[in-house]
Amino acid sequence: MNKGKHITMAFESSCDETSVAILEEGRTVLSNVISSQIDIHTKFGGVVPEIASRHHLENINMVVDQALDEAGITLDDVDLIGVTYGPGLIGALLVGVATAKAIAWAKDIPIVGVHHIHGHISASYIKYKDLEPPFMALVVSGGHTNLVEVTDYNQCKVLGQTRDDAVGEAYDKVARVIGLGYPGGPKIDKVAKEGNPNAIDFKRVYLEKGSLDFSFSGLKTAVLNYLNTQRQAGNEINQADVAASFQQAVLDVIVDKTMEAVKTFKKDKIVLAGGVAANSKLREMLEERCKEEGVKLLVPDPILCTDNAAMIGAAAYYKFKTMGADDLHMDATANLPL
Ligand code: KG4
Ligand code: ZN
Repeated sequence: MNKGKHITMAFESSCDETSVAILEEGRTVLSNVISSQIDIHTKFGGVVPEIASRHHLENINMVVDQALDEAGITLDDVDLIGVTYGPGLIGALLVGVATAKAIAWAKDIPIVGVHHIHGHISASYIKYKDLEPPFMALVVSGGHTNLVEVTDYNQCKVLGQTRDDAVGEAYDKVARVIGLGYPGGPKIDKVAKEGNPNAIDFKRVYLEKGSLDFSFSGLKTAVLNYLNTQRQAGNEINQADVAASFQQAVLDVIVDKTMEAVKTFKKDKIVLAGGVAANSKLREMLEERCKEEGVKLLVPDPILCTDNAAMIGAAAYYKFKTMGADDLHMDATANLPL
């Protein structure tokens, strides 16, 4: 191992992925092991918190060993430990935080707690080696829908957020009611390609003029009402048309508000982050609008969009550089503010 390079070991366990990554100089991934519990939770139609924490506990040591092995290092080579300490499921977060702290204490390695959203935003530093703040970030996942103005590596301001369901949550719920199953996002993405996005005119919810907040729960109810009305009338439901029309209604609002934020806050780059950033229609629509407006769109690879520890490592590296280490009192916090 070349000991001249700074090595970060990172942990992510906020939801249903147990992940450990090793990074060199904050931006080069040496390993990024992700143990997904998706198959386990699929039979329940969503993540069951107690089951998630138990599986994190069962998997974490194995994932640690594999990450070190794949990177070709030992714990003696690690210079910094980063761990997601919120927001997320408290029992799930605790497994990552306790493991990270135990290693930090035993090996006397500095540790920093990372905000999960900050991690998602930092995924772009891995793909785009020259990327530096300032930029606008759109974070769209199963738990979050945030427009974030990133002014420095460790400074960001939430300009808009969802007032009810997160966008990924809306995708998952709508997929369930139209019979696509869990996880709904990728399934709607695929099925919608076969449907007509203008078949059903679901209302676009923009909220008050100038607001950069979002609301998706009304749309979810509108889909349910549509399905009930059609079923009562004995009409056949075209799954692809419902998926495409729902998706169009969601993405029209997200793309409009993102472009409005970029203009108002004078940014020339948008970083797309979070699980829903893997959505092909969202990428396509944003790319088109960014081209029109002369804005650069930066999208990490799909594996870095969904929950993973490499993105936490990138965030940890810059947090440590600007703010130094946390002490071992740093703790898992279910609703940690950004
Ligand atoms: O970031 P993530 O892995 O976990 C959270 O922090 O929430 O995001 C998971 C969410 C799920 O709701 C999933 O349905 C959604 O991202 N998702 C997608 C796609 N791939 C994943 N949504 C729409 N289109 C996709 N291709
Ligand atoms: Zn996430």
